[in-house]
Amino acid sequence: MFNSVGPPNGRMSGHRDVVDITDLSRAVLEEVFKVASQIENQEIDLSHSLDGKVMALAFFEPSTRTRLSFESAMCRLGGKAITFLEPVMTSAAKGENFADTVRMLDYYSDVIVIRHSVEGASRFAADVCNSPVINAGEGMMYHPTQTMIDLYEVLKCLGNIDGLRYAVVGDLRHARVASSLIRGLMMFRPDMIYLVSPDRLRVLEETRRSLSAAKIRFEERTSLAEVLGSVDVIYLTRIQRERFGDALEYERVKGSYSFVEDDVKKMKKDSIVLHALPRVDELSPAVDRYPQAKYFEQAKRGVFVRMALLNMVLR
Ligand code: CP
Repeated sequence: MFNSVGPPNGRMSGHRDVVDITDLSRAVLEEVFKVASQIENQEIDLSHSLDGKVMALAFFEPSTRTRLSFESAMCRLGGKAITFLEPVMTSAAKGENFADTVRMLDYYSDVIVIRHSVEGASRFAADVCNSPVINAGEGMMYHPTQTMIDLYEVLKCLGNIDGLRYAVVGDLRHARVASSLIRGLMMFRPDMIYLVSPDRLRVLEETRRSLSAAKIRFEERTSLAEVLGSVDVIYLTRIQRERFGDALEYERVKGSYSFVEDDVKKMKKDSIVLHALPRVDELSPAVDRYPQAKYFEQAKRGVFVRMALLNMVLR
């Protein structure tokens, strides 16, 4: 049901939930990118397109970019956002179950945006609610709107998503932005995906199997140096400390890789460095001044992409 894809004209099909990036077809993604670009270039004015609509933000995990860019997007479309400050300030703290909580949000809003640590929370909410549910980051696998932003940034910087060489780098075991991006890339035709990580942080077997099934060329590496000069896109991820059940295991990998000024100098001139942010120590601030560093622009463009998506989901 959630895999129902949009028709070729880029409109969303009957079910408007966005739980995984693969819930959307390539045509729908391309429509989101087209509208985001029109908004960014001020070719269209959607400032009243969602007048009177209400978005509920239900964030059970911390966030800066996703939460505030969704809120900014809704404001810029004429709608309003409601939210709770902390999960502990909801009646969940009194023992209310998740189903009852999201049912209330369904009554109070027209679209529900959820971030949760437990995989399956958004899908469950989508089953319970009539309003569309958008997954704003969940567990170790899902962050579909971040993937839209990542792919949009590639498109805006390099003119295409197909045919490029990607290096996805870092904590590929726990970083949902990496897993989600890899699934997003499977909807396009990348020339190559290098999966670069310390041994302990390699991608899950499930991801490897999906890439093989989709006939996407990929190679696993432990060193970025070997591919640095040949890739078009470097996508960095931080080590996801909050996903380690065992603090000792985190200590073993902490600080095990870092992208620094010398690395960016070895990249192709027209290649780009992306990062979903926040960063810790895996990406040196010294890289920020290089033209390849696109991660702040990527975060800024998140508002345009989320505006385009909200407009599509609610129209
Ligand atoms: N990229 C991202 O999801 O950032 P936040 O955790 O700050 O929302």
